[in-house]
Amino acid sequence: MKLVIATKEEIAKDIASRVISLVKGNPQAILGLATGSSPLETYAEIIKRKNEVSFKKVTSFNLDEYLDNGDITQSYRYFMDTNLFDHIDIKKENTHFPSKENLATYDDEILAAGGIDFQILGIGSDGHIAFNEPNTPFDSKTHVAELDERTIKDNSRFFKSIDDVPTKAITMGLSTIMQAKEIVLIATGKNKAEAVKKMFEKVDISCPASILNKHPNVTIYVDKDAAPVF
Ligand code: GLP
Repeated sequence: MKLVIATKEEIAKDIASRVISLVKGNPQAILGLATGSSPLETYAEIIKRKNEVSFKKVTSFNLDEYLDNGDITQSYRYFMDTNLFDHIDIKKENTHFPSKENLATYDDEILAAGGIDFQILGIGSDGHIAFNEPNTPFDSKTHVAELDERTIKDNSRFFKSIDDVPTKAITMGLSTIMQAKEIVLIATGKNKAEAVKKMFEKVDISCPASILNKHPNVTIYVDKDAAPVF
């Protein structure tokens, strides 16, 4: 895995440039997208540079979606619409999310589209990627996941109260993510430092993100606060 230590702004600019040049070279590129605060600046940067490229033929697959979520404005679909899709010329019908309905076919849909060319990831403070919590099997496909207490607590900052945070989600599995041709992971802030360190130390299911060590094309972007100290 390649490690890049940079500021949040530099990280966003670099990843946005990679996405834009990918789409310029391949207007039908397949993007794997993440929610959460980590990719927000990258999406803002893509929006800023939207005149440089067209996303009309791009297809996207999001990593995950809450299940049994009473508040639509807390859905990951809403997050992506408001933070990216509504501001670029991507066609909504080409943007996909895992759901109860497509649970069994999501991985096949990704494959049928040609596979993910470029996958953006964040990381949970417990080392989860998408909603693959510690001890999720490395060969997992898209599935329903129970969120760990720590994840529910972390994500409660986006909700009025911790009781409003959904306890289940549908997530791409670890093997789904590993099939992407190119992967970037963004980790910023002190609360990610422990997970980032663990990810580099040992490939083990106690830290789901550590599976990325087995992928041939991964860049881990961290700021100074999240940088691992060995
Ligand atoms: C959530 C998402 C992950 C995300 C993680 C980190 O649980 N399912 O995809 O990477 O949280 O979120 P943040 O970027 O807000 O720290």
